Amino acid sequence: MTGPETARPSAAVREDRLWQRHLDMARLGATPKGGVNRQALSPEDAAARRLLASWAEARGFAVATDAIGNLFIRYEGSDRAAAPVLTGSHMDSQPTGGRFDGIYGVLAGFEVLEAFADCGWRPRHPVELVAWTNEEGSRFQPGAMGSAVYAGALPLATALAVTDRAGVSVAEALAQTLSSAPAPSRPGLGGPVAAYIEAHIEQGPRLEAARRTIGAVTGIQGQRRYTVDIVGEEAHAGTTPRAARKDALSAAVAIVAALEQLMADRSDTVRFTVGRFEVHPGSPNTVPGRVHFTIDFRHPDAAVLAARGDRIAELAERHAKGCAVTVTEISRVPPTIFAPAVIDLVRRCAGRLGYPLMDMPSGAGHDAMHIARMAPSGMIFVPCLRGVSHNEAESATPADLAAGARVLADALADLARS
Ligand code: HGY
Ligand code: MN
Ligand code: MN
Repeated sequence: MTGPETARPSAAVREDRLWQRHLDMARLGATPKGGVNRQALSPEDAAARRLLASWAEARGFAVATDAIGNLFIRYEGSDRAAAPVLTGSHMDSQPTGGRFDGIYGVLAGFEVLEAFADCGWRPRHPVELVAWTNEEGSRFQPGAMGSAVYAGALPLATALAVTDRAGVSVAEALAQTLSSAPAPSRPGLGGPVAAYIEAHIEQGPRLEAARRTIGAVTGIQGQRRYTVDIVGEEAHAGTTPRAARKDALSAAVAIVAALEQLMADRSDTVRFTVGRFEVHPGSPNTVPGRVHFTIDFRHPDAAVLAARGDRIAELAERHAKGCAVTVTEISRVPPTIFAPAVIDLVRRCAGRLGYPLMDMPSGAGHDAMHIARMAPSGMIFVPCLRGVSHNEAESATPADLAAGARVLADALADLARS
């Protein structure tokens, strides 16, 4: 953008309006501890979709959904046929999630479209805000499902067939969601996409510790996700000798201990998490016959992801203790490097607005990790209190949220201008 500061769309970003929209969204799935439980394709998710679409319709922005339920809000460009510049994030949350993870990127993107409209700015490229379906992957695995299907990293049919722990499929939950949050459907999936920038809270402590307002994100570490199913034999806790047992829990504990050893790392760079651990039948006096648990393994180096990830199944087998063990790799996303031109644009826009900034990688996964494989992409981070996230105590300040939205406005304006 050339011309005085006031010509920049960032000047039309309004902190109060952006903050109020966060408060409005935080009511949807609000939990007693001040967080949100707005899981993918739940009634709370549908309510968030209806609310966002109502705001968009009030501003005359076109609304549409694609076959996996990604919600698109379009600000028209002077060249309607030009590839759109995308921004966005997700509205679904963890079961004990915070009021900013994901939703901030959607609301910052919406604030940018409103700022464009308020200052009468008309880009050549259309600018589209996307609320990606099921980024968290808590109810339906894998996460970043909507952006993965959009980018061609996950077949639509495979995604639609995924079921939650109650046996409800994505297809069924999506049909229910779209019937209660109807929007015109857009044919097809995928691009072309001119560029993509996602705003998100950092979900870590680095910006706050360094007293920086903006993170110019350089990339996202790679991740491999697995489920492990162990089948032993239910038996009487009082009469069954240990030598005769096929104790699924005892095997699971041995397997997790072996994996903890495999993932040991003095530099504390490896991220290894068993987030879900289910024991069946869960009766105090019955030897567990079945255990199901998840593995979330992340690292910035593809070679480490390969070397250690490829050993998980063999180690599980070795500690099966006579049980049957099935290790299933649910998803694998290589490390993502963002486009240098987009990273540099974020740096320049933040610098021009006078915000203290730093380059940084993302430890958390985001929809940008899939979109980066189809278009030049980048991310803008803003601080969150003590870096706490995936926790109901997650917090951010109105000023920081608005700062990220201002950088996003000028960066998107620059990308969509010519
Ligand atoms: O798990 C993640 O990294 C993201 O926050 N869903
Ligand atoms: Mn997120
Ligand atoms: Mn998250």
